[in-house]
Amino acid sequence: MRHLLNPLDFSVEETDRLLDLAADIEQNLPKYSHVCDGRKLATLFYEPSTRTRLSFESAMLSLGGSVLGFSSANSSSATKGESVSDTIRMISCYADIAAMRHPKEGAALVASNAAKIPVINAGDGGHQHPTQTLTDLMTIRSLAGRLNNMTIGLCGDLKFGRTVHSLIDAMVRYPGIRFYLISPDELRIPGYIRQDVLEANHIEYKEVNNLDEAMPELDILYMTRVQKERFFNEEDYIRLKDCYILDRKKMKLAKENMFVLHPLPRVNEISTEVDDDPRAAYFRQAQYGVYVRMALIMTLLEVEKPC
Ligand code: CP
Repeated sequence: MRHLLNPLDFSVEETDRLLDLAADIEQNLPKYSHVCDGRKLATLFYEPSTRTRLSFESAMLSLGGSVLGFSSANSSSATKGESVSDTIRMISCYADIAAMRHPKEGAALVASNAAKIPVINAGDGGHQHPTQTLTDLMTIRSLAGRLNNMTIGLCGDLKFGRTVHSLIDAMVRYPGIRFYLISPDELRIPGYIRQDVLEANHIEYKEVNNLDEAMPELDILYMTRVQKERFFNEEDYIRLKDCYILDRKKMKLAKENMFVLHPLPRVNEISTEVDDDPRAAYFRQAQYGVYVRMALIMTLLEVEKPC
């Protein structure tokens, strides 16, 4: 039995196979409409979500399966003190696979150790968000046509932004990747990622405060929200929350074939005036999230690809 807790749980070859399956699902959606008949997905969300939870549910329904679960800790027995381990043991009796989001880093790992079914990490604190990464990879591969030889700008809250941490882990495995890490000093990428991932893999990267300086170099600009919920001090959040705002003027500095991604939700960091720019890919990205999660459910449940 396999889980997905971290993007590195799948090798590059497995990731590429999963992206190929997601691309086939995108092209031939009706072919997949019964491959999970009779199977159940549990969505255990101890933290708010729109895209991840609903795209998982949409994915399972599109495969012919059904869904159950809770959308906040308050509506589960966590409020009575039930542990994640006990909860997942129960859920293993009710469902075939579970997607779990939790505010604590490592919660999905704890769940996987007690589970009798595959567990998918749908976000654990400021740590990892591997299904967002699969979504990001599908978006980049579909729009740019490759996952290698590109310069990627990661902009905003690089300290608490789990999507950025997972994306770096995944992208350093492809050749010719360079990063611009664009953040205020207080929200720089954690030291362990700089040392254990970037430097350990001899990846070229530059840390800068200024988005304008990086813009002309980028093939992909990955914007992120400042993660209000992870701040200890509201004053710091208010001071930093609008540190970058991507607008039409800044887009003029970018290459004609650069793409803007954002895991969403956005707050102010991308002006709505950018939404009409053909390079704005964040809503298409959310759509790719459904195909990728369909492919992931099939892979973890070992469902054969239909003819
Ligand atoms: N991208 C993402 O994780 O969005 P949600 O928080 O809405 O699930």
